[in-house]
Amino acid sequence: MISRRFFLEQLAGAATALRPSFAARVETGLRDIAVRRGIVYGCAAATYELKDAAFSAALAREAGILSAEYEMKRAALEPSRGRYDFSGGDGLLAFARTHGMAFRGHTLVWDHSNPPWLADALQQPNAEPLLTDYIATVVGHYKGRVRSWDVVNEVLQPTDGRRDGLRDTLWLKRFGPGYIDMAFHAARQADPAALLVYNDWGCEWGAPENDRFRAATLDFLSHALARGVPIQALGLQGHLSAFGTQVDQKKLAVFLDAVRGMGLKILVTEHDVDDSGGPSDIALRDQAVADASRRFLDVMLDNPATQAVLTWGLSDRFLDPPGWRDRLAGRYPRKLPLDRDYGRKPMWNAMAKAFRA
Ligand code: XIL
Repeated sequence: MISRRFFLEQLAGAATALRPSFAARVETGLRDIAVRRGIVYGCAAATYELKDAAFSAALAREAGILSAEYEMKRAALEPSRGRYDFSGGDGLLAFARTHGMAFRGHTLVWDHSNPPWLADALQQPNAEPLLTDYIATVVGHYKGRVRSWDVVNEVLQPTDGRRDGLRDTLWLKRFGPGYIDMAFHAARQADPAALLVYNDWGCEWGAPENDRFRAATLDFLSHALARGVPIQALGLQGHLSAFGTQVDQKKLAVFLDAVRGMGLKILVTEHDVDDSGGPSDIALRDQAVADASRRFLDVMLDNPATQAVLTWGLSDRFLDPPGWRDRLAGRYPRKLPLDRDYGRKPMWNAMAKAFRA
């Protein structure tokens, strides 16, 4: 006896595989609800997830834009110096195009997920091409097919003690603050049409250190724009905690107004809600996750500059337990809109309501 959901998933999968741009999706997904609000909804996805046909059908139903979880980070794209491997990113891009989805590039310059050879290579003289040639090659490869690029990722950290609030990354150590300008100008030159995004986390929550992070972000953006750095959008990763520090809606709204006032677009790029520290009762955890997501998205979507919401994954299926005790207790993270069997959770409903508000 097959379940109704399984039958619909297979039917959705079959319909999608036929002529996705014309086939009506069997069920309305978050992508359809979002587009009626004038925004796009999607998520990060990974190559291994697409091996699961039921997941692929759910992804095609729900997502209108994809970003690569790891396939477009430098460790995957340039495993050895000068040797590029675009197969992972190209595979995800192909899936996106087959299913009428847009595509995000994540991420060109980061302090993590770099290939092991890079740190030593950066110590050589005249190392700037390691930054600018990489960007020209990667952005050039995807030219015209990537709607927006996270040009730099996680470059602020006021607790690192610098007056400019910059995070003490290997890029800052090697090139000084100007590396950010170099990166954006190289990306602009390689694809004049892509939306160029500064992506970070730290502005969402309501604690004093987040106040400092928001102030540092506004200061960084206003000075960069004044220098003519072609930043067009701010990406807020949107990692929340259901049982920890909460979003302060008023503080976030004021901050977003200031960002919009600079003429920038806003994207939520990696939204999820950590449910660790909560009760063992799953219904209570799921509702707290949903409530946190709704409170955050209500503020984000109240600002007309917000144009996209992506979650960092779609289903809890692919999330690892935080520690061995959780694994032993069978306590898996429940951070995302779909559960481990691709069923819609209270978070899915909360996001749908936020999009429809
Ligand atoms: C993480 C991915 O989930 C992992 O698969 C990868 O190995 C490392 O990066 N902020 C980001 C994301 O911008 O790229 C990170 O994703 C999570 C934190």
